Amino acid sequence: MSALTIYPDNQPEYGEQYTDFTAIQQQLKNIGVQFERWEATFTLATDADQASVLDAYASSIDKLRHQCNFQSVDVMKLTSDNPEKAAFRQKFLAEHIHDDFEVRFFVEGRGLFYLHVADKVYAVLCEQGDLISVPANTTHWFDMGENPEFTCIRLFTTPDGWVANFTGSEIAKAFPTLDQYVAEL
Ligand SMILES: [Fe+2]
Repeated sequence: MSALTIYPDNQPEYGEQYTDFTAIQQQLKNIGVQFERWEATFTLATDADQASVLDAYASSIDKLRHQCNFQSVDVMKLTSDNPEKAAFRQKFLAEHIHDDFEVRFFVEGRGLFYLHVADKVYAVLCEQGDLISVPANTTHWFDMGENPEFTCIRLFTTPDGWVANFTGSEIAKAFPTLDQYVAEL
């Protein structure tokens, strides 16, 4: 189940939670974030490589490319047996921004995005089929959890793909992790 919790950025214990998809969509729309449900019904092989994921979802990617003029696309796929899962997790857990507008489309599994906008943190639990945009220069971080299980197609409006500018803030440490968030849902 997709979910959104909006916290004051200095009070991680006072979140207001939404689980109704339309309500989540509306709250995110208020900060310029698209949140949509797309069809993600292909059964991918457990060892599916980037090319086969892109191939399976070619028509969705095409549609998105036309909508938003994306210049590059890649696939982030992580499973709990990945020996480098802790390092990957840490990389995205640090608050950062991207210069370009980006979109994430979860075609398998789940992940928790935290968008830090003005004095609030929007924690968005994305599930299979969810598509979320990250507007340019939106401060955010992402938790895939201790035992990641997800496949996410990432679309970028620059040819360079994923380039992050880290803010150096420790804010992420104050908020519930994906595992804590899901346990309390
Ligand atoms: Fe990011």
